[in-house]
Amino acid sequence: VNFVGETRQPIVKQIRYVHRTAKCAGGNAASYVHRDTPDNNQDTPFDFTADNLKRIESILNNYPEGHKSAAVIPVLDLAQRQHGWLPISAMNTVADILKMPPMRVYEVATFYTMFNRKFVGKYHIQICTTTPCMLRNSDSIVECIKKKLGISIGETTSDKLFTITEVECLGACVNAPMVQINDSYYEDLTPKDMEEIIDDLKAGKIPIPGPRNGRFSCEPAGGLTSLTEPPKGPGFGVRPDL
Ligand code: FES
Repeated sequence: VNFVGETRQPIVKQIRYVHRTAKCAGGNAASYVHRDTPDNNQDTPFDFTADNLKRIESILNNYPEGHKSAAVIPVLDLAQRQHGWLPISAMNTVADILKMPPMRVYEVATFYTMFNRKFVGKYHIQICTTTPCMLRNSDSIVECIKKKLGISIGETTSDKLFTITEVECLGACVNAPMVQINDSYYEDLTPKDMEEIIDDLKAGKIPIPGPRNGRFSCEPAGGLTSLTEPPKGPGFGVRPDL
């Protein structure tokens, strides 16, 4: 805090410190403790659809007898895809199906932040603000999303279309800054790209995932520096007498 002149009015500088981590999962996995709410309690209606029950059967076939509980992650994932997020009643259903103590399922669901134990909108925007993204100005993307949607980190728009979550590294640092929206990565973003992506989603279109700056995948932005010619055929460089 600095002070100005005689009035001693404080000026609080907005500084983003490198050592500051994201708010604990921005809310969706924020609390590791379950608290009953009207839309998330033991009686929240949840049953797998017939199609998903068939999928579970086929997932379970991947595991030998006595080890069916190893299917807990894919089955929880199915529950979340069906419901949009993961109420405690869905975890209990998974525990029933896998014949596991419910606590074992809660342990998994609270450990992995991809399980959303609170409602998320139709488009769940996860913005990475870890160091490489931060150095590539992920703060400008955060500000852009917040301004465009009129909500803060951890909140959902009133039309239930968008939820913003601030997350740690999503493993696409070479394409920083980036966001994950549902299952897709949008990379090499500028605030203008982010606005276009949100406009497209609002219009019911799904923007093409991947880098927005024209490069392919994570190839060097200035063009290839290696592997620039077709690969040599089999036997290249091998001793002729072999
Ligand atoms: S730091 Fe953002 S994806 Fe790794």
